[in-house]
Amino acid sequence: VGTHRDPSSTLVAQRATDRRADLHFELRDHLGQPVSQFGFDGEAWIKSWERFAPGATTGGAGQRRPRMGGLDSAEEADAFFASSPEDPAFAPSVERLRAFLQRVGPDTPIALVTSGGTTAPLERTAVRFVDNFSSGSRGAASAEYLLRAGYAVVFLHREGSLRPFDRKIPDAARWFHDSLVASYDANGIPPPNGLDWHGNSILDMLQTSTANLDRPGVCAESLAGEALRTKIDLGGHFDMINRGTLLATPFTTLFQYLNLLRALCVEMSAVATPERVMVYLAAAVSDFYVPWERLPTHKIQSREAGESGPNNLPGIDATEDGGVVIRLSQTPKMLGHVRSRWCPNAYVVGFKLETDPDILLEKANRSLVKYRMHLVVANEMHRRKDRVALVEPEGRSTWVNRPEDMADIEELMIGELARRHVKFVEESSDGKS
Ligand code: PMT
Repeated sequence: VGTHRDPSSTLVAQRATDRRADLHFELRDHLGQPVSQFGFDGEAWIKSWERFAPGATTGGAGQRRPRMGGLDSAEEADAFFASSPEDPAFAPSVERLRAFLQRVGPDTPIALVTSGGTTAPLERTAVRFVDNFSSGSRGAASAEYLLRAGYAVVFLHREGSLRPFDRKIPDAARWFHDSLVASYDANGIPPPNGLDWHGNSILDMLQTSTANLDRPGVCAESLAGEALRTKIDLGGHFDMINRGTLLATPFTTLFQYLNLLRALCVEMSAVATPERVMVYLAAAVSDFYVPWERLPTHKIQSREAGESGPNNLPGIDATEDGGVVIRLSQTPKMLGHVRSRWCPNAYVVGFKLETDPDILLEKANRSLVKYRMHLVVANEMHRRKDRVALVEPEGRSTWVNRPEDMADIEELMIGELARRHVKFVEESSDGKS
């Protein structure tokens, strides 16, 4: 596969499996719509391409693809998608979104919230993968406040990460566990009645509900239960289920995430008044990955007694001491494509995460300008639950600080964003009239 960037448009070479085959080209405009098609004599074209970029047409293992249009280019994004593996969950997820959009109706604002970290597999049948820290707390809390603000929410989240409304269960469970452990004595000895879940235990904490005596372990109608209930907003959860305003779509890998992101954005851009869509990109996306074509099919073998060590696999270099060197490629940046190609009329909110506070605003501002975001939420890793900056065009930035008595900074953030989104919709409709 070869790609070439023309200054005014994108020229995409079709996959050529036979070096002698003629090559067919499609000329597309900036939205990816075909404009015209034409062909070349394949052998001659490949020869000239080889002179221009040696090795580009052979696609050999470990060879570097030339970056003709840069990491943010349409060609890079398209090449990523063309080489992604099939995902059996993809088509059903898109079907569910279509049904959801029908159900939501034409007047409700819609938010696509991405949440949690993507994995970059190291094997096709992935036993091992590269992951990141994201818990999904930001995305889950934001989805919750967007639902409360009247949005229908499409929640594109990492499988197993935190979710709206029940996101505090792990906290609550930890609190519950810590409370139990706190009743151990100084030598780590449990109280005389033991921490036995099966009946006559922890009597000072739990009052057993007679109705549930036949179900040991779940019979705790307790002080602790009361505390858990205040942490978990089950009322909000059921209300949201009853109104049918939340669609949860899971992903695990980078490939699944980006394919779903593109498809969901494109679907949402086709709704009536697409300006009412807010795309809120809080997921922590792997910046580095191993392209699918370079991944070994099976588990990378380690050296055991008498064996020669990691198998001789393309893209994986075995070291003398039995280790491996795995080369990660950079993931094409997709922010710009969300804004310009997949969902061009939506209100798009990007994120910028840094660990160094001194470069945070500058990097957020650069991302805002480069990818033409409507707003970038700038957050510093360790203070992300306490303060964020909302960075907007013309150098405007607004710090949002969580007051001590407020549980979630997202409550304030979403209030600010929803206000800006309403203004954006009004201005868009003024522009049309
Ligand atoms: O989940 P939590 O534990 O609550 O943490 C929340 C958070 C810190 C993950 C969240 O607030 C956040 O900042 N999310 C974005 C993290 C991130 O990927 O930052 P970045 O600076 O690497 O990327 C900036 C933006 O580019 C992101 O909006 C991302 O979606 C986008 N991106 C990243 C890589 C890529 N290849 N393409 C992209 O479009």
